[in-house]
Amino acid sequence: MACESEKWVLMVTAQTPTNIAVIKYWGKRDESLILPINDSISVTLDPEHLCTTTTVAVSPRFDQDRMWLNGREISLSGGRYQRCLREIRSRASDVEDEKKGIKIAKKDWENLHVHIASYNNFPTAAGLASSAAGFACLVFSLAKLMNVKEDQGKLSAVARQGSGSACRSLYGGFVKWIMGKHDDGSDSIAVQLADEKHWDDLVIVIAVVSSRQKETSSTSGMRESVETSMLIKHRAKEVVPKRIVDMEEAIKNRDFPSFAHLACADSNQFHAVCLDTCPPIFYMNDTSHRIIGCVEKWNRSEESPQVAYTFDAGPNAVLIARNRKVAASLLQRLLFHFPPSSDTDLSSYVIGDKSILQDVG
Ligand code: DP6
Repeated sequence: MACESEKWVLMVTAQTPTNIAVIKYWGKRDESLILPINDSISVTLDPEHLCTTTTVAVSPRFDQDRMWLNGREISLSGGRYQRCLREIRSRASDVEDEKKGIKIAKKDWENLHVHIASYNNFPTAAGLASSAAGFACLVFSLAKLMNVKEDQGKLSAVARQGSGSACRSLYGGFVKWIMGKHDDGSDSIAVQLADEKHWDDLVIVIAVVSSRQKETSSTSGMRESVETSMLIKHRAKEVVPKRIVDMEEAIKNRDFPSFAHLACADSNQFHAVCLDTCPPIFYMNDTSHRIIGCVEKWNRSEESPQVAYTFDAGPNAVLIARNRKVAASLLQRLLFHFPPSSDTDLSSYVIGDKSILQDVG
């Protein structure tokens, strides 16, 4: 490690949006490597509204790896953080910053420690896929800092070991996470199906029903589903493989009726699996059910569907409008049915377009 003084700090900042699955990942076949039991497909959101910003810094003065999330220090001792750090360190290359006179050789990375500061501009662990944006951003920024030369696909396999859904946040637009066949997880990676410019008529509206932390985390929820649900087996083997093919086709052809039908059906089946779990898991609440009712009624009153809905492991509705005009009408309807002063706790709406991973480093 060559440098005039030992006081230097090298930093990288990156920003990564979250993603919302339209064909859900639910269930692992390998818990430690995070290998799923089915493929999934998602849309990456606009980083302005739902994103994680992470700054990673390295300095010879740091005597241990440390991390702060939304300003509070958190422990890095968990297996997921350790695996991401280890995987990225093992792929590090030489780094040279001529202006600062810093030279870090590949082998030095093993002995250097990092400080990580991460900030979510949306509620953490409230079913808005905060871990997806968080781990994708962590892996992306560490890889930049350590000059990792591998492609996004290989990086997605590292992000996957932080949180499954994180692998899809390394790309913008429409993304598929291929479950893979290998036991080592090397082929369980994300691939981009279409970039963020494809089908840019779509507008995503998130109805924040509750920003409270969910009671059952996705990790333990899906573990219980795999252990106890019969429906999840049928879903993974018989239903999802066909839906993946149909969804890829719908995205390619910008076929909104098929897209909406598949996304809503898949969300409903995922929540049916949660109910089929013992003890049952309830992620949606009455407000979520009322939103589904409103959208279904509206779609049935038109010649073809106008809005698709999908719910992750929480009560918040992700609504995908076929264009901006429909999105405006959707917001009006939501405000009419769920006025801010009503007894439901529907609190705010976020509009986002699809977007690309944005590097601000
Ligand atoms: C319902 O990726 O949060 O959002 O891999 O255990 O970290 P872990 O789970 P996580 O699960 C996401 C589940 C989901 C569906 C999806 O995003 O595909």
